[in-house]
Amino acid sequence: MMAAPNPSPHAPPRPRHVAIIMDGNGRWARQRSRPRTFGHRAGVEALRRTVEAAGDLGVPYLTVFGFSTENWTRPPDEVSALLDLLRLYVDRDLDRLVAEGVRVRVIGARDGLAADILDMIERAEARTRSNQALNLTIAFNYGGRQEIVRAARAFAEDAAAGRVEPPALTPDLFAQYLDTRDLPPLDLVIRTSGEVRLSNFLLWQAAYAEFVFLDVLWPDFDRAALAGALDEYASRERRFGAVEAV
Ligand code: IPE
Ligand code: IPE
Ligand code: MG
Repeated sequence: MMAAPNPSPHAPPRPRHVAIIMDGNGRWARQRSRPRTFGHRAGVEALRRTVEAAGDLGVPYLTVFGFSTENWTRPPDEVSALLDLLRLYVDRDLDRLVAEGVRVRVIGARDGLAADILDMIERAEARTRSNQALNLTIAFNYGGRQEIVRAARAFAEDAAAGRVEPPALTPDLFAQYLDTRDLPPLDLVIRTSGEVRLSNFLLWQAAYAEFVFLDVLWPDFDRAALAGALDEYASRERRFGAVEAV
């Protein structure tokens, strides 16, 4: 029998791995008649609050969607403002993240990224490598389909080089080729802004995750909103295709 994606078919009271699609910055700014980048700046504040709240609320793995492969199609000004904000977040917050025991990982494609961004990602990962209080994973230049294709390519290269036999490929082995290989199974996906879609986020990992869609715009997200989503998760029963627990 194949292993279940989670050891127990019962809803654990607390999710171990929560992922957030931080959406709605542009609409938040528009409501205030301000440029979209004003919303993105407020979004960084919301991210700071959320990282702190996740630690306090006992979520050990938090993964956030910061910039998708498709977001490069936005106007150049907005793209460069988003990149500046990423630099600012990592540069300004790194000392604090180190001090607070946050381990930072970045998932997504690295090919073609500017040298200073690559350098910053590597520095953040290296400086926080031995931290254990909270695992913060930032999905940057990330697309779920692209991640799966990169994994398939890496497996094919291993197979072509004779390092692995194609029949050995199972879902568990394939997961070892994904960017999330070091993260536990995804339990909960939260999306703000009222949109009800994945937008190419964690396609493979979300197979048996629970979903909470909130009407709040990302810059307004706070501890209470996160706590509410965790309560909603606690009320779910995860069955993983098995029968209801008695
Ligand atoms: C999310 O907010 C931030 C990123 C995608 C980087 P949006 O910029 O998508 O805001 P809306 O969806 O236009 O309101
Ligand atoms: C998803 O939001 C990407 C991030 C939050 C970084 P988008 O705003 O890009 O998604 P769509 O365009 O509404 O699907
Ligand atoms: Mg959006």
